[in-house]
Formats: sequence, C-alpha cells, structure tokens
Amino acid sequence: METTIIKNGRIIDPANNLDTIGDILIVDGVIAKVGVIDDFPSDPVVIDATDKIVCPGFIDLHTHLREPGREDKETIKTGTMAAAAGGYTSICPMGNTSPVCDSAAVVKFIKTRADIDAIVNVYPMGTVTKNLAGEEIVEFGDLYYAGVKGFTDDGNPVMNAEIMRRALEYSTMFGLPILDHCEDKQLSDEGVMHDGLVSTRIGLKGIPPQAESIQVARDVDLAAMTGGHIHIQHVSKKASLCHIRQGKKQGVNITAEATPHHLCLTDEKLADFNTNAKMNPPLGSEEDRQALIEALIDGTIDCIATDHAPHTDIEKDMPITLAPFGTIGLETAFPACYTYLVKTSRLSVSMLIQKMTQAPADIIKIAPRGSLSLGAPADITIIDLNKSQLITKDFFHSKSSNNCFIGETLCGVITTTLVSGKVVFRRDDPKIT
Ligand code: DOR
Repeated sequence: METTIIKNGRIIDPANNLDTIGDILIVDGVIAKVGVIDDFPSDPVVIDATDKIVCPGFIDLHTHLREPGREDKETIKTGTMAAAAGGYTSICPMGNTSPVCDSAAVVKFIKTRADIDAIVNVYPMGTVTKNLAGEEIVEFGDLYYAGVKGFTDDGNPVMNAEIMRRALEYSTMFGLPILDHCEDKQLSDEGVMHDGLVSTRIGLKGIPPQAESIQVARDVDLAAMTGGHIHIQHVSKKASLCHIRQGKKQGVNITAEATPHHLCLTDEKLADFNTNAKMNPPLGSEEDRQALIEALIDGTIDCIATDHAPHTDIEKDMPITLAPFGTIGLETAFPACYTYLVKTSRLSVSMLIQKMTQAPADIIKIAPRGSLSLGAPADITIIDLNKSQLITKDFFHSKSSNNCFIGETLCGVITTTLVSGKVVFRRDDPKIT
C-alpha cells in the first residue's frame, strides 16, 4: 500500500464546496480522506503544504502538442512536462497535427505515445472534418471508440454550415461535444491583429470582431436546431457574448471557454510588433477584455482553456505579418489569471480554480477528475500564492518559449503537481521570490 499525506494546506475543492485548512490522505493513487488526519498509516510520504493552496489538478480543454508531425515545436513528452509545471493534470490535444487526428489510427498513436511518454493524463480530440479540409466529416463512431473526448477542427473553423449541422447531429449519438474555432475566413482574410485603434496606429491589417461573432451566432442556431452540444473555443470578443448568453437563456446546449491571454491582455501588447502576442483569435480591446471577465463571472463563459500553441524561435522571429499565430500558455495560465483577475479583486481564487478544474471536467465528462472527491484519482496541484516569478524565456519546460507574458512578473507559483498520487512536478527554483 502506497500512502502519501499532504499536510496542513488550504484545501480548495469547488466541486465539493470545500475551502478549509486540512490534510489529504492518498492511498494507492486515490483520495482516501480529506480533513484533519491523525490516524494515517505508518511511513507515508509527507508533503508539507503549510501556507499553500491544495486543489484539484487543472484540466485544459485546448492544448496543441504538435506530435505527430512537428516535434521540433513540442512533443507529447515536453508538452505534458509543461502541463505538469503549470499545475495541469489532464490536457486535451487538438487534432491539427500532421497527419491530422481524423482517424482511429492517429488517435491510437497519440494514446500509445502518451502511455509511454506523458506525465499527465492525455484526452485527445478528433477533428470534425477529414484532413481539416472542411469538406467531409470524419467517421465519428471510429474516433469515439478509439477514445476521443470531442471533435474540433481547431486552427481552422468549420466554414460550411451544412457540415457543422451534420457534425452536431452525429455528435448527439455519442454524447460528445463539437468544439469550434469560430472564424469567418472571408472576414478575417489576411488580418494580423484585432481591427482597432492599435492596428490603425501601427499600420497592420485588422481582423474585425464579427469574424468571430458571426460564426458564434451560427453555431448557437445550429446547436438549437440539432440539439447537439456546441463548445465555443477561445471566445475573445464582446460581440460574441450576447449570442452565447441568449443561447444559454433559451436552453441551447452550449458551453464556452476563454483563454488567459484574452482575459488578461489587449491589442496594446502588439504595439511594439511583439510576435508572441500574435494569436488567433487576436487579442481584443480593453472593452472586450472587461466583457470577457464579466462573462466568466456570470457563467456565460464556463471555463478557462489555454490554447497552448508552441512555435519555434525561427518562426516567431519572422516579421509580424509572416510569424504564425499562437502563444504557449500551460505554464503561465494560473499565474496570469491569478495576477490579473484575483489580485485585482475581480474573481475569488476559488472561482478561478473552479473554472480550471470542475468546469472543464464537466464539459468533457471526466468527473470525478477535477475534484477531490473520495475515491477520485489523486490529481492534485499545490500553489504558493505568496510567491511571484519573473517570466523569462528560460522559465519554460515546453520545447518552445513563444509566450506573451515574457517580461512580466506574475504572482502565484505552482510548487507541486501530482497525478494519481505520484509527484510529477516539484519546483525548486532560487529565482522565485
Ligand atoms: O493562435 C492560434 N494558434 N490559434 C489557433 O487557433 C491555432 C493555434 C496553432 O495551432 O498554432
């Protein structure tokens, strides 16, 4: 019998309405007791969590692992190391790999490779259309039985409404969500950043918010028509929120995520042509950011997801018009949201944790993961809220370092991450203050 005891932490478990000082006993990888524990078996591994937060491990619905195909940017091994360092214990890799994850064979490859290399749980997503071409839907049944947790063409939108309609219809047969990267490609065209004052000032082609909101409105209508579950990925603009809000009010099966970068930063971050702040959808205005925070608080946005998108230095060192879209996010998600949303008193720390644990677990139906319920796998994150860290290029465990928070000092340091009771990450860094 292997026993671990996490002692004297502030245990926050939103799924069980718990916020208390106490201990957690882990026996053979599962949570055996939560509370004040005196009668533990002899010789346990003891982790002292005095003055630290102890919460369920974070769950990311939106990670790009790049394997197979672009192992120069990230692999299942390095991506899951980054996840563990960011306090994530479960992640969902997107299907825009090479080859794309549009067949049972690729799902099986990812799962087999994850069994060997991954240090956190990996729940692959299949694509909606074959080869991400937007023309023909994948064999949903094959991918379902191979083990995907949802379908998304992320990186690309599903532009054809008829295809999206059929995808939503099929998905109901398997009880899985369709996750959509909402972008009207004709409207976004060759745009590089948000269409606003900054794009005008620095002379870059803008992407109007309606490139996102038009597709969101369409998806809400199609979900209402089919009864399918639509999950809107990386919502970034105020104009999209009224459609999600209205759909939810009418009982449409819709959930939504926002990223830490859209919740914390604005298009001002591109004023000096910083390619790490070039992502798709683009960072919006301060008005967009404030609307997103309100939507997160009122439940219009269900959860926080990273859109961790690794790219090499060679690619990101190109001129901003040519550099690829994307920022890595697994290792800065909690510190960024804690610094920008909790330290500024917009969100409580428990609400932030709920949006990163219970909420995503519910969307892909992997509870009791995302909770500290008795009998649940002991996926646990320990955080020191009293420490901060300057984010530099060498901060990351990811194979890439294209991160939009580089240069900022962020509060809230992940100190330890456990997956099924096993310590998969422990931070021991003199640079932390
Ligand atoms: O910024 C982004 N990068 N947005 C996406 O939707 C795709 C991602 C990528 O794959 O690099």
